[in-house]
Amino acid sequence: MTVRVPAKVNLQLGVGPTRDDGYHDLVNVFHAVSLFDEVTAAHAGRLEVRVQAAPHSRVAVEGVPADDDNLAVRAARLVAARLDVEPHVALRIRKAIPVAGGMAGGSADAAAALVACARLWDDREQPVLARDDLMELGAELGSDVPFAVLGGTAVGVGRGERLTSALTRGTFHWVFATADGGLSTPAVYAECDRIREAAGEGAPRPSVSEELMTALATGDAKGLGAALTNDLQAAALSLRPSLGRVLGAGHDLGAAGAVVSGSGPTCAFLAETEEDAAGLAVALDATGVAAQVLRASGPVPGATVV
Ligand code: C5P
Repeated sequence: MTVRVPAKVNLQLGVGPTRDDGYHDLVNVFHAVSLFDEVTAAHAGRLEVRVQAAPHSRVAVEGVPADDDNLAVRAARLVAARLDVEPHVALRIRKAIPVAGGMAGGSADAAAALVACARLWDDREQPVLARDDLMELGAELGSDVPFAVLGGTAVGVGRGERLTSALTRGTFHWVFATADGGLSTPAVYAECDRIREAAGEGAPRPSVSEELMTALATGDAKGLGAALTNDLQAAALSLRPSLGRVLGAGHDLGAAGAVVSGSGPTCAFLAETEEDAAGLAVALDATGVAAQVLRASGPVPGATVV
């Protein structure tokens, strides 16, 4: 059973106050883009996992755990427990989504493993675990996992796990600049808190941007580019000042929008047309500010059996 699952970029990442459980209240507009990991689940005598870079991808998989620290392994165990079967499965993960890049690659693999294992162990026409159930299970694994199951464009509240699909029109064309070395998501959130505290600012109560929703609904790339925001960006820049040059290069080259993706360090650039995206990618690559320049479009569906 092979499942393909997309990366995400956050179109708006509004970070609110810290909650009692240590998480932050979010308004998180997720957008799934056409950079895909693939997870294959096959019957086996025990739980085993293999992680490789996808063909033609230069993803650094050395840092990806091949044990219970891998969210996909925990996803397999969770599905097995729910279906009351032994978690005996061989998982092969083929990665094209940057690792620790702020594009939810680990969460994507967990979502794909949920879908793949549920199908592998339960091939009834009316499976016990429907997509909604898998999204609920996903929320136990991480805040971004339910969205990787759902895909498209969606507004997430709470930890980001309570999702409502958003109306969009047409396709948006993206260019991504990866960086060598990831950023730790908890460290970036902690830095965001530190910066706010040092400035004597309380955490705002984020709300969904009207401009953003209108741009999405009308397929207005220019409007969407202008409406991109990320409350974690200052924290990511504080921990990795070189990202300022990456964002600046995208601006200078005429991107319609430039933003750090999630907790970074990948930077996302929106182009007005597919041709603009192609030109921007070549020009950005030539500046040498990025480890790698990738192109993708969105929205695309969530975890899908291939
Ligand atoms: O949910 P997930 O395990 O992906 O979150 C990773 C880390 O990101 C958390 O441990 C926490 O530090 C931070 N986080 C947060 N508030 C959220 C989501 C994530 O503080 N809503």
